[in-house]
Amino acid sequence: MVSKTYIFAGASSKIAIETAKLLKINGHNVIGISTKMKIKGYDEFYTVGKYDFGVFPPIDGPVDGIVYFPGTINLKPFNRLSQVDFIQDYQINSLGAVAFTHAYLSNLKNTEQASIVYLSTVAVSTGMPFHSSISMAKGAIEGLTKALAAELAPSVRVNCIAPSLTDTPLSEKFINSPEKLEASEKRNPLKKVGSAMDIANAIEFLLSGKSGWITGQVIAVDGGMGNIKLL
Ligand SMILES: NC(=O)c1ccc[n+]([C@@H]2O[C@H](COP(=O)([O-])OP(=O)(O)OC[C@H]3O[C@@H](n4cnc5c(N)ncnc54)[C@H](OP(=O)(O)O)[C@@H]3O)[C@@H](O)[C@H]2O)c1
Repeated sequence: MVSKTYIFAGASSKIAIETAKLLKINGHNVIGISTKMKIKGYDEFYTVGKYDFGVFPPIDGPVDGIVYFPGTINLKPFNRLSQVDFIQDYQINSLGAVAFTHAYLSNLKNTEQASIVYLSTVAVSTGMPFHSSISMAKGAIEGLTKALAAELAPSVRVNCIAPSLTDTPLSEKFINSPEKLEASEKRNPLKKVGSAMDIANAIEFLLSGKSGWITGQVIAVDGGMGNIKLL
């Protein structure tokens, strides 16, 4: 198998680390970028101050795919969400993805068919209380996915994964007791909270040639949460 090169922003993400493991098992190189000082499991690693224009390190050579993992779950009633909350969520979830994509677009255009993957949430397609800031910020990512997919076709594919509640440090406060975990599992049609590997498998697929005729899609990996209502 030909070895490919991928760049991950938000490399400390549990989902990112699981995705890197899958890619490395198949002999690919994964370059991690994080606001943390050091994360194991990457072939090269860079620390940045924040996810902004001008901060991403230059990387030489062709790149086959990039994934933007940084995200927040800042849930509050609408009238308790300040302008700063909205701006911060937009900065981390949306503008950071734009800056990251700008930084490596020329590397992506140097390969036969590259792949960009973004992360959204089920709360964009399905209205949920207290999610107004995060659903706005991730909604922008879904718009970016479709616009860029059109603009960059056929040389670069652009897709997005929209998970429901998944067991990672980001969601810890929602499932950190047996009662909370059980309540979340009961709400999900498949009666489980997602695992980082559930999401990593879908990202690996979108990065690979197996998804070579898929672009401009927002793919729900959510146990059916967005589309199914059980009676
Ligand atoms: N877990 C869920 O239930 C769930 C549901 C829907 C969508 N998602 C999405 O999945 C993606 C990956 O998250 P995860 O579940 O794997 O969570 P995680 O393991 O807790 O990772 C959190 C991610 O967000 C970044 N991050 C968090 N706060 C940040 C801040 N203040 N400034 C900059 N970066 C920050 C981290 O980047 P650094 O490496 O720089 O620390 C890391 O990439 C996110 O985009 C999230 O929105 C998760």
